[in-house]
Order: sequence, then C-alpha cells, then structure tokens
Amino acid sequence: MSTSTTTTTTTNAAPATPATGDASSAHASRSAELYARALRVLPGGVSRNTVLRDPHPAYLDRASGCRITDLDGVERIDFANNMCSLIHGHADPGIVAAVTAQLARGTASTLATEVEVDFAEHVVGRSPSFEKVRFVNSGTEALMVCLKAARAFTGRPRIAKVEGAYHGAYDAAEVSQAPGPDTWGDADHPRSVPLVHGTPQSTLDDVVVLPFDDPERAVAILDEHRGDLACVLLDLMPHRVGLRPASPAFVDAIRDWTERHGALLVLDEVITFRTEVGGLQARYDARPDLTAMGKMIGGGFPVGAVAGRADVMDTMNPRGEGPLRFPHSGTFSANPISMVAGLEAMRRFDAAAVARLNELGERARRGIEAAIGRTGSAACVTGTGSMFRVHMKADPPRNYREAWATPAEKTRLARLLDHLFHAGFVMINTCSGVLSTPMGEAEIDALVAAMEDGLAADAAGG
Ligand SMILES: Cc1ncc(COP(=O)(O)O)c(C=O)c1O
Repeated sequence: MSTSTTTTTTTNAAPATPATGDASSAHASRSAELYARALRVLPGGVSRNTVLRDPHPAYLDRASGCRITDLDGVERIDFANNMCSLIHGHADPGIVAAVTAQLARGTASTLATEVEVDFAEHVVGRSPSFEKVRFVNSGTEALMVCLKAARAFTGRPRIAKVEGAYHGAYDAAEVSQAPGPDTWGDADHPRSVPLVHGTPQSTLDDVVVLPFDDPERAVAILDEHRGDLACVLLDLMPHRVGLRPASPAFVDAIRDWTERHGALLVLDEVITFRTEVGGLQARYDARPDLTAMGKMIGGGFPVGAVAGRADVMDTMNPRGEGPLRFPHSGTFSANPISMVAGLEAMRRFDAAAVARLNELGERARRGIEAAIGRTGSAACVTGTGSMFRVHMKADPPRNYREAWATPAEKTRLARLLDHLFHAGFVMINTCSGVLSTPMGEAEIDALVAAMEDGLAADAAGG
C-alpha cells in the first residue's frame, strides 16, 4: 500500500479512485491538524465517537451522491451514509432544493405547518400499523416516546428488550446494550447490565433482558414478569446483535405473549424501515402497537417519528377524554426543514426504489459471500434489503453472544476496515454497509473487489 495521497475529482458515474494511504503519514494533513485542535476542546476530539478512527478522524470537505471527499482531497464511496440515514446519498438535488426553499420561509416557529400534515399523511400511508404519528428529533427521542407512551397506556413501569440491541441513549433503552462475557450472566436469565457508569439500579431493575431469536427462552423469561411489563421492545434485525432478521416464530411468540398479557409490542425501525415501503415489519404477520423511526425518514436532517395505534398515540393527545397521561412536546419537533427534506426523500423512496436498492443489497451480499469462499477467510456476511454486515466468524451469528467479537476477531476486523478505507470505501465501524439510491452495480462491484483483496490478506494472516 502506497503512503501517498490521491486527490480525485467527484463524479457520480464510476467507482472512486482508490485512496492510497493515509495522508498524515506523508504530508501535513488538514485532518490531523484539525484533530490536534479538536482534542483541546472536545472530549476525545469529537462530538460523536462514531467518527473516530486511528490515527485521527477524516474531516469532511464535501460530499455528493455516494461519494465523500475529505479535507486532504481523498474521495471515497460512502457505504456508511451517516449511519444509515442518507437514503439518497449526499447533497441530493431534490432535497437541497426543498430545504433551500424552506430556509427562506423560516426554519422553526410556534405555528404548525402544512408540510407536517403532508408528511404525517405520507408516513401513515406507508404501513397498516400506523394510525397516527408524532414527529420528534432523533431515533433516541422516538424510542423514549414509545416507552413512555407504553407506560402511560398500560400504567406499568417495566419494559423488556433484547440483549445487545442498540436503541439510542434513553436510560431504559440502553440497558444491556453492550455487555461482555464477564457481565452478561446466564443465557436463561441475561443480566440487566448498565452501559453508563452510575446508571440507577432502579433503571436496571425495570428492564428485563431477552435473548434474540430464542422463542422458548424469551417467553419463559417474560412469563416471570407477566402483569408488570408495559411493552416488549424489538428490532426485527438488530445491527449490534448481528444484523440477522428475526425468525417469524420469534416475532409471533413475542406478539402472542404481549397480547395475552396486556403489554404492547414496540418495534424499533430506526434503521430497518428502509427494507420495505412499510418497513421490515411488512415481511411479518405480527403487527406492532407502536413503531419508532428516524434516520432516513429525515432526508439527511435530524428527525424521529413514533407511529402506531390511535388509542396508544392518544396518550399524548391533550384534547382527549380524561386527564392527559403523557404530556409531550419538543422545541424542534416537526420543524419544517426536517419535514420538507423527509417528505421529499420518502416520496421518492417508493416501491420501485426500495426494490432496486434491495437487489443491489443482494448483489453485495452474494458478492462478498463468493469472495469469502474464494479467499478462504473465516468470515461471513449477514443482513437483508439494502444492508449488510461482515463478521470475522465462519458462521453467521444468531444472537448477541454469538455476534460478540473476540479480541482476535476485532483485530482482524480493524485490519479489514483499514484496508477498505485506504482502498476508497467508508464503512460503518462494525464493517456494515448500507446503500443509497445514487449507487449502482459499479459501486457494489468495486466494494466487493476491495473486500476480496482485504479478505485474501486476512486469510494469509495479515
Ligand atoms: C436501531 C436504532 N435505534 C435507535 C437509534 C438512535 O437513533 P439516533 O442516533 O437518531 O438517536 C439508532 C442509531 O443508530 C439505531 O440504530
């Protein structure tokens, strides 16, 4: 691998010219300089740990379509898409035009907006489980609202969630988000493990942890808590749990249990909503009571949404009968910038666009699988729709404990990610990739070729 910097121009027609080496090693790097300044004023030098990489983050210069260029002039194909939130890639002309027009008309106010109603109608029209919707500002907030609405509706304080599943930063939602073998406890009774030092014991006590895709174990645990659970929170294909879709048997068992015991089923579709017009839930018989969304439905701007049963959503309705059970507001909720961007993005992410992107996703998964086969690397690929994840394990993991990377696997994954970055590809740091509509077969095939080189090096031991 060369250590010189490659400067390329941005085009949307062909794969990026491979980036060759880290700019900092050969030249004074703008990114390195900025990081030195950042370290003095930002903890760890960043505002979100996601952007960290060694020896320093790459700093954005510009991005367009599926290509992103850093301040050292290196262009890469972006398979991270801001952690799954840019369904039409960067600087999409339709979204830029819609936002620019709205900027001149005002960005946020205490008047309601027409576009909020337009977007609500659009979202409600995408799934039969959506009777009403409320917009918020992030996936974290959407999950928080779901859990509070479930508690307000049932009058019960506790929730159940899947071990290892990431649902954002709300206290209850982040319990057992990242346990390890020394903390996770017995598989029949996974422990409620704090993510953040100082998490109140009462929060841990109020969260019941379930194994993913194990209907018998999950129902046995739920049975011990019947009568005091407000909801079961489920991501149908949790990224950190391995990015493998839940079996219908598991989802049916959870739905059946919640119905029998007066608890709600809450789905987190913050990343999976892209899988079908109506989200990944469209592939299952079970219907949720509430769904949390975020990321791509904002067209690249901060957003979250909660949609579901009208009677549950009406816990937030100050005009309903009886006392208001869940007073809910938010200064920037349904701000017209996020609304116009989201509406433009989602209108164009119709059945044809979803199907095209899913086909490309299949091409990526099949291509990577074939590359694994040819190189003999002990790796595998999971995912569905327009998402995939590479694990440095021979067999696809079925739950968080199987997906958990050993130190040796982490080292191999870090090497593969470095190889891809230097070859001109930005991935999510679990070696997951998500597609955007500006991508075509050329970008997928370029990634697969680079992946094969990286896997061959892995199989050769370095
Ligand atoms: C499945 C899932 N739920 C919730 C969230 C939280 O969303 P946000 O980062 O917008 O708060 C994320 C973010 O990565 C997510 O992947």
